[in-house]
Amino acid sequence: MAQAEEQLAERSQHNERVQWVLANFITEDTELLAAKASAELTAAQVAFASQAAQFNDLEGLDYDTERKLNLLRSSIVIPAPMDPEKTAEQSEIGARLNGLYGRGTYCREDGECLALGELEDIMATSRDAAELLEAWDGWHSISPPMKNLYARQVELANEGAAELGFDNLGTMWRSAYDMDPAEFPGLLDEMWEQVSPLYEALHCHVRARLGEVYGPDIVPQDGPIPAHLLGNMWAQGWENIEELVAPPKTDAAYDLTSILVDKGYDAISMVETGEAFFSSLGFEELPKTFWKRSLFTKPADRDVVCHASAWDIDEKDDLRIKMCIDVNAEDFKVIHHELGHNYYQRAYKDQSFLYRGSANDGFHEAVGDTLSLSITPEYLAQLGLITEVPDASGDLGLLMTQALEKIAFLPFGLLVDQWRWKVFAGEAGPEQYNDLWWQLREQYQGVSAPNERPADAFDAGAKYHVPGNTPYTRYFLAHILQFQFHRSLCEIAGNDGPIHRCTIYGNQEAGERLNAMLEMGKSRPWPEALEALTGSPEMDATAVLDYFAPLKAWLDEQNTGRQCGW
Ligand code: ASP
Ligand code: SER
Ligand code: ZN
Repeated sequence: MAQAEEQLAERSQHNERVQWVLANFITEDTELLAAKASAELTAAQVAFASQAAQFNDLEGLDYDTERKLNLLRSSIVIPAPMDPEKTAEQSEIGARLNGLYGRGTYCREDGECLALGELEDIMATSRDAAELLEAWDGWHSISPPMKNLYARQVELANEGAAELGFDNLGTMWRSAYDMDPAEFPGLLDEMWEQVSPLYEALHCHVRARLGEVYGPDIVPQDGPIPAHLLGNMWAQGWENIEELVAPPKTDAAYDLTSILVDKGYDAISMVETGEAFFSSLGFEELPKTFWKRSLFTKPADRDVVCHASAWDIDEKDDLRIKMCIDVNAEDFKVIHHELGHNYYQRAYKDQSFLYRGSANDGFHEAVGDTLSLSITPEYLAQLGLITEVPDASGDLGLLMTQALEKIAFLPFGLLVDQWRWKVFAGEAGPEQYNDLWWQLREQYQGVSAPNERPADAFDAGAKYHVPGNTPYTRYFLAHILQFQFHRSLCEIAGNDGPIHRCTIYGNQEAGERLNAMLEMGKSRPWPEALEALTGSPEMDATAVLDYFAPLKAWLDEQNTGRQCGW
């Protein structure tokens, strides 16, 4: 085990560096180099995993050895078969899929080509249905060339998973939650059932308002909402259409984007503000190298992966983020999200290699978001960004802003892996990929394809995490967990008002309790980590429901007499 940890640590650090170069400089050369590095790492991971799989009687082993054997066997995201040619093929496909996404552009008939960031701006700001459809459809034209590559990758990864004793890659992914993998989907269903009435109420109100804006021909009032009208390329967060759906403005309303712009914020000062939040909780400052080595803005002269990410190159102090920051509220929150990863990574750096990770993957995604929930008017006033803190009459507006971001996201956070799990299980082949995608989007989100999809469409591929092979259930979990974390931290901080007005900024006690959980890394099952912070070992959505209770009551009133559902 000691040898395995040492060798894997060395190889994964090398791989991180190579992947960093690729993501910051996408060329044919870096793609090849990255494919080679990841093939070497995968081969080593698979070799150790298959050795671990040979121990089928773990009884009598000490706790850590047993836990680490299980981790070794199950924690490869995309395993490859042991055949070296197949390992190489697998890694090349991975690099090509990433490249197709990272370089994706849509060229208009007049010859002007738009990158994802520009298309997302149109999705966020345009209120012209035809223009929105063009941007939506344009971005979804980048993914058909991915379809066959993706199908082959699934085949290879399933073969790899089978060699390690899993029926398919989906089972392997579901084995990473300290519980019987067959019971994990049931846990997700339970949480989804808790929150879906709130989602449906939000959907109903938003659909009614969009019907008034675009007309009932474009937004039929008894069916799903067309996916191009919700302000976001994937309809996964609806905060950009707030002005169309929000409760009537009260003097509470403020627009964080305009505040950041008016106060002269730039990418660096936005990140510094995020760092200062962590410092106020008692966390040590980010290292100097963070500021030198991170990528904060989109370079003018080369292709980079703009999708935000956080890195931990040497698993000690070489922390970085990579982001194409724009000065707006969304990126301000994403900065906190990415920094949450970096502070988690630093908190568990003294754990042994296999324990350097979060309690479960949802925890990693939840930390920075938890701090973002503390970006309240009270906090902004402390920073001097607003002068007057709105009274309780502003609450509905504040809650609506949060719901459009966090509640709208929930079904999307679930369905991406519902799709992948079925694909990995062989329930849908390449010919059914797209139909299954839209069936799930309609079922969970109540969102529909805005036009007839072409036969070669591969719309799942137009979402970063599919070609990028990043599991997605983690984001659903994080959207539940962050409210649990926030509620507990607010209690620890002695907050006695409503939790949507609570900020833990400056509270060292809350910081200590958070750090106690982060430091544990992956060394204990996640329920213990959760208990260390919240006092309860259960993930559940009651904190979400508490937080949004006043908005739910308002939505129900608005929806009286409307026919909800789809
Ligand atoms: N902010 C991005 C997202 O969550 C990347 C990340 O997870 O850090 O997909
Ligand atoms: N960062 C994730 C995404 O972009 C979840 O919010 O989908
Ligand atoms: Zn993340």
